[in-house]
Amino acid sequence: MSAFTLRLRELGFGTRVGLSALVLAFGIGLAASAWHLQDHHHNRDEQPGVSLEDLEGAYHGVNTTAPLVSALERGHPEALATQEREFLLVWLRSGRIVEDYDSIDLGDSAPEGLIRANCLPCHARNASAGEGIGARVPLEYFDDVKKLAFSKSVAPVPVRVLAASTHAHALSLAAMSVVIGFLLIATRWPAFLRNGLFALAGLGLVGDLAGWWLARSSAAWVPMIVASGATYALATALSLALVFLELWLPRRRESS
Ligand code: HEC
Repeated sequence: MSAFTLRLRELGFGTRVGLSALVLAFGIGLAASAWHLQDHHHNRDEQPGVSLEDLEGAYHGVNTTAPLVSALERGHPEALATQEREFLLVWLRSGRIVEDYDSIDLGDSAPEGLIRANCLPCHARNASAGEGIGARVPLEYFDDVKKLAFSKSVAPVPVRVLAASTHAHALSLAAMSVVIGFLLIATRWPAFLRNGLFALAGLGLVGDLAGWWLARSSAAWVPMIVASGATYALATALSLALVFLELWLPRRRESS
């Protein structure tokens, strides 16, 4: 460490004021990133808050099959006639789930009628058959049916957009972190803190950026995006706080 004995506290008053203001600016930037992250991702799965599924949607894409479709496809209920099963599946895959539910044009093959005749013996709230499934999974009204009728397909962000975002983030954040890291090295704090936070920030950033791309082929990488991003943000925030303290705590006599 002898090659780098500069301590920020030894710098002139004006320099320390300037550095403090810039540390604050970095802090504002971090806060804005956190807000943007929440604002940008929270609504992908129509649940409040940023969930793992939101991020999975953004970086990998999500494909879920509607419970009604998977039940019909696996041959449930056994007694359903082949043609009626087909009618229901065609409807569920049509993109006209709402419009055709009780369509008069479809006559007897309108989904509402098919469901009433074939499903409600068990899936009505007070049905006696079906071991109480009607109370747990009712299909009596469209409000019941629509909860199980929609397959979800969320496309990940286009490669073009991801490349632009990577380009912007990788270059600016890496440069920013090098600066913060060297400021941190020029502080009085124990070596393990300075070196450790520098390492965590670097690894966090590269893990996050790599995760964005790896997650496209496998959703298993999405947790790494979260862990790396959180590590990066925390290491950076802590580094900024330590730099700030170094600038304004009373001088300390050093024996180096
Ligand atoms: C003979 C009674 C009976 C009939 C008729 C019946 N079901 Fe079911 N259904 C059940 C039972 C019991 C379960 C729970 C066990 C299982 O999943 O197989 C169930 C489960 C389901 C589930 C899975 C719910 C979940 O956990 O996500 C769906 C979807 C479903 N039924 C749809 C239908 C549809 C659509 C029809 C009509 C075309 C239908 N069922 C007709 C008895 C019935």
